[in-house]
Amino acid sequence: MRGDTPATTAATANASATPAGTPGSSASTLADRDNGELRIDRVSYEYGGGRHPVVAAVDAVDFRLPAGRLGALVGPSGCGKSTLLRLAAGLFEPTKGRISFGSTSPAELRKRRRVGFAFQDPALLAWRSVRHNVELPFDLAALPTDRAWIEELLAIVGLTEWADRRPRELSGGMRQRVSLARALATKPDLLLLDEPFGALDEITRSELNLELLRILSATGTTCLLVTHSVDEAVLLADRVVVLSNRPCAVRLVYDVPEARERRGASRDTIEFLDHCRTVRAALAG
Ligand SMILES: Nc1ncnc2c1ncn2[C@@H]1O[C@H](COP(=O)(O)OP(=O)(O)O)[C@@H](O)[C@H]1O
Ligand SMILES: [Mg+2]
Repeated sequence: MRGDTPATTAATANASATPAGTPGSSASTLADRDNGELRIDRVSYEYGGGRHPVVAAVDAVDFRLPAGRLGALVGPSGCGKSTLLRLAAGLFEPTKGRISFGSTSPAELRKRRRVGFAFQDPALLAWRSVRHNVELPFDLAALPTDRAWIEELLAIVGLTEWADRRPRELSGGMRQRVSLARALATKPDLLLLDEPFGALDEITRSELNLELLRILSATGTTCLLVTHSVDEAVLLADRVVVLSNRPCAVRLVYDVPEARERRGASRDTIEFLDHCRTVRAALAG
């Protein structure tokens, strides 16, 4: 909740930041991105009801993610991160509050197939090859497949040589990479990633972290991701949202001031460690 946000934070939960007004604005040049702000307005969510016990998962969560920016949700296991992401994907409606993306709703955006989503579980189609799994969003949207982009994506996630294999032939980390490529296939306006790098080894993870930043900068996609790793959140995000235990409320909204494009080089700097320390302290409560 906003009231929980320590005074030391670099941002307020509902700062009406524009791309030009936020740090690291080099990715924000397209006017149409002004329409791509994700607004989470005092959103609460409860599972169950009726014959099932009510589980309060999200409590008055309130923050904004300016167009073309990357937000990272960090919080304890089971606090409601995936629930928030599913709400942002329009998979279900908040019990209270409202989510919007530019002038539209997540459900509408999803109907128009402009949301890319990589779930915690990659959920690949077993009978489709890697390439055909990545192409799936084009088929679902009845759009012509952008073959050159699919091949580029396969190369980015390091799966060119595996493109004709089936998911069962891949390791967990490789499946996650297919899922990430699939989420990016149609260059969505809103990208939602649920611990997309969890099953990857450290080197692959670092490489893909930086590739993701490169792709997002090139496409101007607004991206909200869930990660367990404070380092990863600070490396990737323009805005880190620290959540409390379930039902999750916002503990801190922290804007990382360095430009995203320079993050790869900044990992060992005092500033980077300071950002991590601040986020960790909020996480610890
Ligand atoms: N379909 C569901 N029905 C009832 N409770 C659920 C359901 N999905 C998740 N929950 C509960 O909501 C809480 C938050 O879950 P989740 O959003 O998956 O947390 P996180 O992603 O932070 O680990 C958990 O206590 C979980 O058990
Ligand atoms: Mg989760």
